[in-house]
Amino acid sequence: MRARFKRLEERVAELQSAGLARTLRPLFPTGPTTAELDGREIQVFSSNDYLGLAWELRSSWRGRGAGSSRLIAGDRNAHHALEEKLEELFCGPALVFPSGYQANLALMSTLFEAGDVVASDALNHASIIDGLRLSKAERRVIPHGDPSAIPKDSTAVVVEGLYSMDGDQLSLKEYQNKRRWLVVDEAHAVGCIGPKGRGASYEQELVPDVVVGTLGKAYGAAGAFVICPWELKQLLISKGRSFVYTTGLAEAAARAALVGIERADHARRELLASRVRRFRAGLADLGRFPPGKDHIVPLVLGPSTMAAAQALLEEGFFVPGIRAPTVSKGQERLRFSLSAAHSDAQIDALLTAIDKVLR
Ligand SMILES: Cc1ncc(COP(=O)(O)O)c(C=O)c1O
Repeated sequence: MRARFKRLEERVAELQSAGLARTLRPLFPTGPTTAELDGREIQVFSSNDYLGLAWELRSSWRGRGAGSSRLIAGDRNAHHALEEKLEELFCGPALVFPSGYQANLALMSTLFEAGDVVASDALNHASIIDGLRLSKAERRVIPHGDPSAIPKDSTAVVVEGLYSMDGDQLSLKEYQNKRRWLVVDEAHAVGCIGPKGRGASYEQELVPDVVVGTLGKAYGAAGAFVICPWELKQLLISKGRSFVYTTGLAEAAARAALVGIERADHARRELLASRVRRFRAGLADLGRFPPGKDHIVPLVLGPSTMAAAQALLEEGFFVPGIRAPTVSKGQERLRFSLSAAHSDAQIDALLTAIDKVLR
């Protein structure tokens, strides 16, 4: 026992000495974009609450946990009402999951079989990577944004609608080909981008074969969904291990998500777009031109990232520093997430702080 414990201790020490130990920081929200951290009021530019709904929905959490897998005693009217709402919005069968991570595990390991060759963009989220690892398919990682690297024999390609660390969209039509599946994870885009907030693919006038979306980011609640052909939905219900062998999405979360989807309207998306324009224009005035055009704004600073994040925090702005292994070495960055709930004054104050810290 002592030797095993010692091994744990050594591993923690290794992480700490490499500067890679992650820490949890309790944050107490005091408003849609403000919080108390270590006894100080801070402006939050790090949440995925892109439409400011999470704060608004706090009184919509009514109901219980599901109590068991949906296949045992955990299937609720709230799940079906939510799936109907999503089916109406995305015009295809929908299945909800307790989280996006679980949705991707089930989807990748169910859709792909031995003999499949799946091209996966190099910057795809960990849940896609892990799902593909669980499947018996062969995974071929292709350079980010390079559709010419898709192997000729691939049976599927998996990409994201809006990349969560780079803030960019791919040119999705170049990934589409009738001979293979196109799966687009729209976790950071649904609610915010495209007609009716259906994501980057719809903004680019393309309907993927399968869409993954989350309910815990722009929709302000928790959970996730997959939009897919009817047959795949049936397979996910029967064979998707992270759907079958887990407690269903909490009824309370499903109800909150329904309200979130209803409130994620055009006016909110317009407001978010105006915040994004203001922030990106302000950065351009400071001589900084981050990639993308949407609400995730990365500033790649390399090794000085964590010091810059700390300096911004001292100025009262909570912006995460993203470092290896989440991004590759040398690509460390500040990741700003904008919300429709930010005020112009907050954005201007942030720009002033960035100018001071990065000058
Ligand atoms: C692209 C992508 N897919 C899936 C997920 C997982 O979603 P969830 O947080 O609901 O587990 C994330 C989370 O950030 C993500 O960025």
